[in-house]
Amino acid sequence: MNRRPLTVAVALALVALSGAAQEFSDPHSLSRPDEVAVTHLDLDLTVDFAAKTLAGTASLTVERRAPGAEQLWLDTNGLDIVAVRLDGAPEPVAHRLSTEIPLLGRALSVPLGPETRVVHVDYRTRPDAAALQWLDPAQTAGGRHPFLFTQSQPILARTWVPCQDSPGARATYRATIRTSPELVAVMSATNPRQKRPDGVYRFEMKQPIPSYLLALAVGDLEFRELGRRSGVYAEPSVVEPAAWELADTEAMITAAERLYGPYRWGRYDLLILPPSFPYGGMENPRLTFATPTILAGDKSLVALVAHELAHSWSGNLVTNATWNDFWLNEGFTSYIENRIMEAVYGADYAAMLQLLSRREIEKAVAEEGSGARSTWLYGDLGGRDPEGYVAEIVYDKGALLLHTLEDAVGRQTWDRFLRQYFDEHAFRTMTSRGFVDSVSANLLDERPEAAGRVDVTGWVYGPGIPPNAHAAVSPAFDQVDREVNRFLTGTPAADLATAGWVTQQWQRFLERLGSGLPLASMADLDATFGFTRSGNSEVLAAWLGHAIAAQYEPADPALERFLTTVGRRKFLKPLYEELAKTPAGLARGKALYAKARPGYHAVSRVAVDEILGWKE
Ligand code: BES
Ligand code: ZN
Repeated sequence: MNRRPLTVAVALALVALSGAAQEFSDPHSLSRPDEVAVTHLDLDLTVDFAAKTLAGTASLTVERRAPGAEQLWLDTNGLDIVAVRLDGAPEPVAHRLSTEIPLLGRALSVPLGPETRVVHVDYRTRPDAAALQWLDPAQTAGGRHPFLFTQSQPILARTWVPCQDSPGARATYRATIRTSPELVAVMSATNPRQKRPDGVYRFEMKQPIPSYLLALAVGDLEFRELGRRSGVYAEPSVVEPAAWELADTEAMITAAERLYGPYRWGRYDLLILPPSFPYGGMENPRLTFATPTILAGDKSLVALVAHELAHSWSGNLVTNATWNDFWLNEGFTSYIENRIMEAVYGADYAAMLQLLSRREIEKAVAEEGSGARSTWLYGDLGGRDPEGYVAEIVYDKGALLLHTLEDAVGRQTWDRFLRQYFDEHAFRTMTSRGFVDSVSANLLDERPEAAGRVDVTGWVYGPGIPPNAHAAVSPAFDQVDREVNRFLTGTPAADLATAGWVTQQWQRFLERLGSGLPLASMADLDATFGFTRSGNSEVLAAWLGHAIAAQYEPADPALERFLTTVGRRKFLKPLYEELAKTPAGLARGKALYAKARPGYHAVSRVAVDEILGWKE
């Protein structure tokens, strides 16, 4: 009867051992794909909006990878396991769940027979599953139907599917999702175009993908075609404006293919989510999930589409081996995003985006400290939260390294290298070390002059912005900077030469204004440019930051509206941080947050809780 503690101890010891046995160990997974790998997943789940649960069966096809391996090890976090069955046998086998490790959850181990091919796990999720956001009708555009969406990256897939939740483990999948007939289900897979009268939807993903790309959304959705292999899903009132805004998607796919080879996922569709979606976008294969805050009405924020599309090569095809190599996903993708934007909208536009990105790195390096470990590209997460990276480093410094390599070896050579890199490593993982070695062996070793200009190892395994970093030039931004200087030295806003400015110039303008604007300047800017009324989420968010700092009260209602409708973490964090800088602001931030918090996704709640020192 006293056996349990011992079993737990043995299980934990085995967990620790298996890490060392892996070729590259993933500190964020308790599964062991190097012993027995899951190669295919079959999901059959019923969506229960009233109970806020998904319930059903995950059937996992297994393959032995190590001689003598007798157990399947899976990640779970907050799942209620009902029973585990092997192949066609009706009676359950004895499975084990290790004790819970914070963040990582519990390892589920299943004893296999010598011939076992398929392991069936009957389970249900809990209402607080971190990957799932269950929205009330009031949180949707239509206001009449509930909505559900998942967010699996980085290690949340295990909160809705028992799986080998490591980016190094890939599987194909099929799914049957059962919901009510007035709703549509979509996944990171083949998708329906229309509602099904029985509410039962079937999906297939034929390419092997890592678990963090498992995705599901259920809501009152409609579809509009964008191009021959692209389209958009959104709620009925959003789908037309979305289709207009995203009209250039097909041109982006074509541009990306010209650069990096064929798009290997069949269709590329987008899903516009309700505003509580905590990210800008998520590169779920075949179906990018996106925030509605990119719908500016003038196509000015579609770089996000270029970004998520770019992940079809960097990330989804060649995948970071562990979350410490996250910059390989996001830095590459930010670089490719910029190349796609250049191809579709021109070099001047791309240069503005590069310069906005450059400022982000400089601010982050200043904040973290120029020698800080957190400014290396290679992460040092240990077993800590894989969300603990500095975004401006992995995204922007990562992209800057690739721009710098392009400068060093020339665009033609560099493009050829990248294309070959994607072909060679397609559907596999890449480590930071592997990338450095590949650049050395294939590019720099035979080009001493280029090698002298870029210290790749120093970029990846060292801090700050190394020498010879690529420097973009933008006459459009030079003009903005001149006008900012004129304003700051007394020229009234109405006399500034701003005719024809695009969103990125306004972003630059707001950034360059610096902090501590007097109230009179705020009022002058607002009266002239109408920032408080801006329908552009980037411009409005930047303006609201100034408004908080200056205690510019006319923007208060807009701030409250923004914080209580938008759940995108990237916008929320700086605004709450600005509020938290003064005692009065903190009190106000807490009051606003009390109203807004129930509508935020768990991912955003964690971030804002920390900023405000919020305790439930
Ligand atoms: N894969 C990321 C989103 C993500 C990162 C989810 C880490 C979970 C953990 C996605 O591709 C992304 O980078 N989104 C950006 C948009 C972008 C244009 C930089 C975002 O959400 O802001
Ligand atoms: Zn990304």
